[in-house]
Amino acid sequence: MSVNSQHDAREVPVSACEPQSLEDFETALVRFHSYFGDPVETLEATLNNDPEFVLGHIFVASAMLIMGERQYISAIRNSIERAEALSTKSNEREKMLVHAARQWMEGRWDRACETWDRVLTDHPRDAMALQLAHLTDFFRGDALNLRDRVGRTLTHWHRDIPGYSYIQGMYAFGLEECNQHKIAEETGYYALSIEPRDGWAVHAIAHVLEMQGRYDEGITMYTERVNDWAPGNGFAFHNWWHLALYYMERDDFNGALGLYDSRILPEPCDLSSQLLDASALLWRLMLQGVDTGSRWNELADMWARKTELENGYYAFNDFHALIAFVGAGRLSNAREILAAVENTAEHSTRLNAMMSRDVGIPACRAMLAFGEKRYDETVSCLVNLRPIANRFGGSHAQRDILSQTLLDAAIRDGQLALASNLLSERKCNKPMTPLSKLYEARIYH
Ligand SMILES: [Fe+2]
Repeated sequence: MSVNSQHDAREVPVSACEPQSLEDFETALVRFHSYFGDPVETLEATLNNDPEFVLGHIFVASAMLIMGERQYISAIRNSIERAEALSTKSNEREKMLVHAARQWMEGRWDRACETWDRVLTDHPRDAMALQLAHLTDFFRGDALNLRDRVGRTLTHWHRDIPGYSYIQGMYAFGLEECNQHKIAEETGYYALSIEPRDGWAVHAIAHVLEMQGRYDEGITMYTERVNDWAPGNGFAFHNWWHLALYYMERDDFNGALGLYDSRILPEPCDLSSQLLDASALLWRLMLQGVDTGSRWNELADMWARKTELENGYYAFNDFHALIAFVGAGRLSNAREILAAVENTAEHSTRLNAMMSRDVGIPACRAMLAFGEKRYDETVSCLVNLRPIANRFGGSHAQRDILSQTLLDAAIRDGQLALASNLLSERKCNKPMTPLSKLYEARIYH
């Protein structure tokens, strides 16, 4: 299907614009789906030439929003206001998309998803709206919508429509988060059979293999496909993190540490999602007694440059910043983050207030207590938290840090009956792995 000034390549209506602008939008959308290239940069150049391209302003605002960081808010607000100023020239869909972006910016992430869902009801092939809602479902830990929001649109797609494989990749991840591992894996490979260069679909398969303890298969899958998901891909650091988890599972801590240095955080960075993975991996290594040298302090320095602005913006990020400070032994910095999370829970009207109250506070208190060797408090904070921990977002694999810390703290506190049961839970979810054997040896020494 050719792109024209009235509809995009998926027959979704677009208000009048320069033909080149719509072509650039298609390029940006593929970059957004695949994580190859910078979609925002692509459209910023377009908007210089066609400043009334409202969909371009919406895309730029939305793609920055979904980074989940306060540091982009002024740029986001600027793009939203430019789109709002063009409302008389916008179609109904575009007005709704602007509204969703504003709701997101104001912290009403659940409301933004509802608005995108209304857009998708009328335009189920709006791939941009679908991915924005999908990623926001991830931020909110909404497993059912990770699967079903995609599922509601699927009957309107077929493989001849541009971007179809990416929709299948999203669906694969949603299925995995709903614990439908077999069909998730099949769907992920189906997506890759159409478009192998899809970091999100590879990632969906990686999650299945992680949840089932299939670490050797995971290493093989990533290694065989490395040229499709790693070089030049903006999401590669997170796939490298998953590869490091497989190394952890097979008791190859040096391999995991090597990936930390070479791939996950090879140089200083200010992106929360990347720092977050670094924190999570160092914490897991710390639980296993691995000496990580100066890495905690270096990582804490990177977080410290961000926290004044970002504290209290998103509880999931706050939690991972806090554990970096705990790991580095900088407990006063960790307490500052906990105070910010508590303040957000009490005073904010954003959705993050609920996330902070329900999960952020007990999770942060648990890790701080761990750093102060008050393992009984770590256990009491975490033991009933895990079933609702999805409320502060992330994936099952990411939130496993809570389960591993609980198990570890139970062992350190001598609560061996609890530890034994937690290990039983782990062994039921994953066949016995070398990492589980290490925990077993500590419980039954
Ligand atoms: Fe992941």
